[in-house]
Amino acid sequence: MKRLAGKSALITGSARGIGLKFAEAYVREGAKVVIADIDLDRAKKAASNIGDAAIAVRMDVTDQSSIDEAIRTADEAFGGIDILVNNAALFSAAPIVEIERPDYDKLFAVNVAGTLFTLQAAAKSMIARGKGGKIINMASQAGRRGEALVAVYCATKAAVISITQSAGLDLIRHGINVNAIAPGVVDGEHWDGVDAFFAKYENKAPGQKKKEVGQAVPFGRMGTAEDLTGMAIFLASPEADYVVAQTYNVDGGNWMS
Ligand SMILES: NC(=O)c1ccc[n+]([C@@H]2O[C@H](COP(=O)([O-])OP(=O)(O)OC[C@H]3O[C@@H](n4cnc5c(N)ncnc54)[C@H](O)[C@@H]3O)[C@@H](O)[C@H]2O)c1
Repeated sequence: MKRLAGKSALITGSARGIGLKFAEAYVREGAKVVIADIDLDRAKKAASNIGDAAIAVRMDVTDQSSIDEAIRTADEAFGGIDILVNNAALFSAAPIVEIERPDYDKLFAVNVAGTLFTLQAAAKSMIARGKGGKIINMASQAGRRGEALVAVYCATKAAVISITQSAGLDLIRHGINVNAIAPGVVDGEHWDGVDAFFAKYENKAPGQKKKEVGQAVPFGRMGTAEDLTGMAIFLASPEADYVVAQTYNVDGGNWMS
């Protein structure tokens, strides 16, 4: 029995990386998915590789009309959405004295406001439909404690954990479960960018930081997007009906909370 049979999901930022692997995994489990990303070309390619069970929409989570349009498209295509994954995010790093306000504004707009207002739009649609739903926010181990060079990103992910708790408590009366996943270090294009920041600020050779963080994981290596799909399926499934307002670490043992 497929665990998401008959369900539909919208995943923000799913043209690549972790969101794309979630989309593929959800389809394998019987769901239909909306690949929603600011990069429409890549979203279209991803959807066409997946096949009939996926559609692509351009969505900018910093723009309310774009959020509303994406939810409307999903509702029209699939008769409503059962699952939202708030996955789109940006990363940046800088020492405290070099943080620039536009960078702060951009990260909070995508990672925090984008998460909250996409969650809100999906929740409104789910409440109107009356069938409950599952909302999964992508947090991070970076939200569990600060890091010297990563103040802004860490703060955004701490906010995602907090929003997950508040929204989880508010929306469960509508049968909507809000939970989060906190990955550790996951290899892919995102971490190529992280590695470049550390190469700059810690004077490391390209690839060096990646090697170090992988070796430091108790499991013995960096994570892959596939390592996270089990939790993403579980939280989207009826098996998680009694799970409310939680953030789960899926990080090879990096963090305990
Ligand atoms: N990769 C890691 O090590 C790691 C660790 C912890 C948490 N996370 C979190 O997991 C999630 C996915 O990470 P990833 O590694 O796949 O990232 P990624 O950078 O590979 O993918 C992010 C996607 O979001 C899209 N996006 C960016 N801005 C957008 C916007 N305004 N509107 C819509 N889409 C937008 C991008 O086009 C891209 O497709 C993120 O929330 C990230 O913070 C990642």
